[in-house]
Amino acid sequence: MPVIAFFNQKGGTAKTTSTLNVGAALAERGHKTLAIDLDPQASLTMALGVDVLTLESSSYDLLVDDTVTVQDVARTTTIANFSVVPSHPDLAAAELQLLNALERERALAHKLKPEALAALDYEFVLIDSPPSLNVVSINILVAADYLIIPIEPHPLSVMVLPKLFEMVGRVQRLNPKLAIVGFLPTKVHGTSRLAADMIDDLRTGFPQLLILPSIPLSVRGAEAVAAYTSILAYSPKSPIAEAYRQVARKVEKEIRP
Ligand SMILES: Nc1ncnc2c1ncn2[C@@H]1O[C@H](COP(=O)(O)OP(=O)(O)OP(=O)(O)O)[C@@H](O)[C@H]1O
Ligand SMILES: [Mg+2]
Repeated sequence: MPVIAFFNQKGGTAKTTSTLNVGAALAERGHKTLAIDLDPQASLTMALGVDVLTLESSSYDLLVDDTVTVQDVARTTTIANFSVVPSHPDLAAAELQLLNALERERALAHKLKPEALAALDYEFVLIDSPPSLNVVSINILVAADYLIIPIEPHPLSVMVLPKLFEMVGRVQRLNPKLAIVGFLPTKVHGTSRLAADMIDDLRTGFPQLLILPSIPLSVRGAEAVAAYTSILAYSPKSPIAEAYRQVARKVEKEIRP
C-alpha cells in the first residue's frame, strides 16, 4: 500500500487540513485509509477529537520503541474507513531519543514495511508532517513512497522549495523509491493574482511535477475542526469539500493502491 506524506517545512501550508481531508475523501471513496500524525503539535489528532493528554500510546512510541507496531497505536475515528495514529507533545523529544539510535533515519520505515502492514489491509497510508527539517522529517522521507507538497500562494512559498528539494535529494539516496507527486495549492483566493503567479512559477520551475487541483480559501476547514470531523462530513457540498474530492480522485489515479 502506498505511503503518501504531506510535506513542507514551511508552517501553515495546510498539511494537516489536507492530510485529514484527502484522507476523508479517499475513505469516502471506499478506501480503507490510515493517517499518521507525526507533528508534536498533534493538530490532526486533536482535529479528530482525540484527547491528547490521556493517550496511552502515540506516534512517539511508534518511533522510539522497537516493540510497538502500527496496529498497537492506530485507532478508528468517527469517519468510516478512516483510522489515525495519534501524536503526542512528547514527539518533540523523539529528536533527542533517536539521536543515538542505530539506523535512526529508518525507525519509521521499519514500522511501515509492507510485511508489517499486510494484515491491516489499509489501501492508503497518509502522513501529516511537522513544519521542520529534523530527524522526524527525515524518518518521514525515508518511509514514504510519495510526497505531496501543500503550498499556499505567497511570494515566500516558492523560496523555501530549494531547501526542501535538497533534503529530498539527499534522502533519495537512502530511499530511492521516494517520488514527488507534486504540489497542492491551498488557501487559494479566487480573485487574487498571487495563486496564478505562484502556479506559473511552479510550472516553469518544476515542469516534471504535477499541480493538483487547487483548494479554495474557506473557513469551513476551521469550522470542521471545531466539530471534530472532516470538511466533507461538516459541509459536504461546499466548494472546498468538492476540491478535496477532486484531489483524492487524482491521487487515486496517479497512485495505484
Ligand atoms: N483552504 C483553507 N482556507 C482557509 N484556511 C485554511 C485552509 N486550509 C487550512 N486553513 C487554515 O490555515 C491554518 C493552517 O492550516 P494547517 O494547520 O492545515 O497547516 P499546516 O501546514 O498543517 O500547519 P503546521 O505547519 O503548523 O503544521 C489553520 O488555521 C487552518 O484552519
Ligand atoms: Mg500541521
